[in-house]
Amino acid sequence: MKVLTFFNHAGGVAKTSTVRDVGYVLGELGRRVLLIDVDPQANLTRWLGVEDDIALAQTIYPAVIGEADRDGGSGNSGDEELRLPEPLQVHGMGLIPANLSIAIVEREILSVFMGVVRLREAVRRLEGYDYVLIDPPPSLGQLSALAVVAADSIVVPLPTNRKGLDGIPTVIRMVREYRKAARNLDIALFALTQHDRRTRHDRDSLEVIREQLGAVAPVSTPLASRPAYYSDAQVQGMPISVYAPGSEADLEVRRVTAELLERVEG
Ligand SMILES: Nc1ncnc2c1ncn2[C@@H]1O[C@H](COP(=O)(O)OP(=O)(O)O)[C@@H](O)[C@H]1O
Ligand SMILES: [Mg+2]
Repeated sequence: MKVLTFFNHAGGVAKTSTVRDVGYVLGELGRRVLLIDVDPQANLTRWLGVEDDIALAQTIYPAVIGEADRDGGSGNSGDEELRLPEPLQVHGMGLIPANLSIAIVEREILSVFMGVVRLREAVRRLEGYDYVLIDPPPSLGQLSALAVVAADSIVVPLPTNRKGLDGIPTVIRMVREYRKAARNLDIALFALTQHDRRTRHDRDSLEVIREQLGAVAPVSTPLASRPAYYSDAQVQGMPISVYAPGSEADLEVRRVTAELLERVEG
């Protein structure tokens, strides 16, 4: 089993979209996939078409804090083995969904000794999956730390623009910091997103990223910017490859997934 967290502290860089789309293709290729939504905004959950109200007990909460049986949560933090709940099934993948209430983990985890490794421990007790893909929130808080420390490897979604370039030093510094709690953490892939090849600026950024980051980890072929596809797919609750099978957008996601597999499975 491989645990991959799609990390970039910046928001709007296509973390959630990439988890959804790469996860789906991995599933189609026969891998057993579990997605974990660690963002209180719950975009991953909603974009996979989940419309039901989600209870705290269905989220990561029981695995990192404890039973969520009282109003407002506040479980116990003894030494019993904390487990992830039974996942939902969406588009051939398992999903541990999120809701706004998991925001309380940011505060509650601080009073748990070595709380930051709890998601890592719970994920390692799972059986029956080849890939666990984790979608963290856009921040450097405790939920992000839980998500990254749980990983074997990081995938860094990176837009080919100023925002993408500006975020790189922080991403690399934070991965180094998180290694204090997860020693063998490495960067598996920089996944280039939202690439607009019609603009000079994006083409230049793509070159700079390849030059600067090629020595750190493989840099993927770009996922092109396609605002209409991405917003429609969200509304429909579908991964890109379900929404537009056979399209350029679908082929790009498949190519990036193959690049990731090449790196992870050799
Ligand atoms: N290739 C793309 N082309 C156009 N829009 C995209 C693309 N990838 C993502 N988006 C859009 O960009 C926004 C941010 O993406 P999202 O996956 O939510 O990023 P993050 O999880 O990093 O905040 C969303 O509205 C999404 O639909
Ligand atoms: Mg997101």
